[in-house]
Amino acid sequence: MTSSLQTPREMQKVQVALATRPYEVLIGNHLLPIVGEYSRSVITPCRCAVITDDNVAPLHSGVLMESLKRAGFDPHLVVIPSGEQSKSMLSASDLCDRLIGLGIDRKGAIFSLGGGVIGDLAGFVASVFYRGIPVIQIPTTVVSQIDSSVGGKTGVNSHLGKNLIGSFHQPLLVIADTATLSSLPERIFREGLAEAIKHGVIADATLLAMLPPESNQDLTPLIARNVAIKATIVEADEFETKGMRALLNFGHTIGHAVESVAGYGVLSHGEAVAIGMIAALDLSVRLAGLPSVQADQVRETIRTCELPEKLPESLSTESLLAALQRDKKFDRGAVRFVLTAQLGSAMVSDRVTTQDITQAIDRLRS
Ligand SMILES: NC(=O)c1ccc[n+]([C@@H]2O[C@H](COP(=O)([O-])OP(=O)(O)OC[C@H]3O[C@@H](n4cnc5c(N)ncnc54)[C@H](O)[C@@H]3O)[C@@H](O)[C@H]2O)c1
Ligand SMILES: [Zn+2]
Repeated sequence: MTSSLQTPREMQKVQVALATRPYEVLIGNHLLPIVGEYSRSVITPCRCAVITDDNVAPLHSGVLMESLKRAGFDPHLVVIPSGEQSKSMLSASDLCDRLIGLGIDRKGAIFSLGGGVIGDLAGFVASVFYRGIPVIQIPTTVVSQIDSSVGGKTGVNSHLGKNLIGSFHQPLLVIADTATLSSLPERIFREGLAEAIKHGVIADATLLAMLPPESNQDLTPLIARNVAIKATIVEADEFETKGMRALLNFGHTIGHAVESVAGYGVLSHGEAVAIGMIAALDLSVRLAGLPSVQADQVRETIRTCELPEKLPESLSTESLLAALQRDKKFDRGAVRFVLTAQLGSAMVSDRVTTQDITQAIDRLRS
């Protein structure tokens, strides 16, 4: 960073210290107007695309486009339909054609403005367009600010499964403007808190005391703490080969099964993960020695964040077990389950049996 940059008060910086190329995550209130200035410190101004969706474009793209123009960039707005169905090879291919049509080439760059869907899709396109061009992530949901924009995992869905096609493509810079979160629908805001609770459980129990945030509170410290946790895990295991990144699956094994059996869209991802975390806490108490009082504390946080704790009546144990068998976290039939023995830490266990899981699912109804 050059010293001439204006640093807004209260802005926090988190380094993602990767050996190949470190980058910064900037977190603060009202950062969109200075994206151009900060981007210019990591990339030469160029013809570039701002990829966003049709919900975010009318709310936040104007300020970003102006900021990029002021800094000497030649930005072109590319808007795609919002929603998970846009995370497909078809959209990726269509986006590549649109970028070529706009005259963007290997000297260009992509700015991804939106939630995790836009971040994953735009990051994926950046990784293959002209064999890879820079991407700057500007996440606008809680999930994307605390999780998906950091770490370089990009990708799209196959009709046979989510996130099965992708690449690792680290961003040059991530700018999380917490002011953008104020336009989020309440339910989408709250589901993001499930991932923050997960971070608290696996890495930093004191984070739980910051949840839920008060309305109108400056979210910068909360987002920054979460980004720091994600950054530490990514630094330790950039390519998900060493087991550390697997800890981010706490609550996700049963959570994914609940999400898919309920039918995508019925329960949001975060809501299903909240239910999955209740089961994972139960298993942690019974199999890993987690003190019950600590499990109760997390359950209370899930409750105060207004996330669900109980399984919807319509989901049978059999259908959930069948979904678990199809999950990629089942390695040739053996479950690799993330448990916590002490809040603020986690481990992968292969000692969780189908019977244990069946009991944990049944207890989600009581
Ligand atoms: N790459 C990773 O490491 C990683 C990690 C976690 C999740 N993900 C992926 O992220 C995706 C989910 O991300 P998400 O929860 O952000 O969902 P999303 O991108 O679909 O955004 C949720 C909704 O909020 C809208 N929206 C976004 N920002 C807004 C704003 N500021 N104001 C008003 N509306 C806004 C969007 O248009 C959308 O309708 C999934 O595809 C998931 O697989 C990736
Ligand atoms: Zn998740």
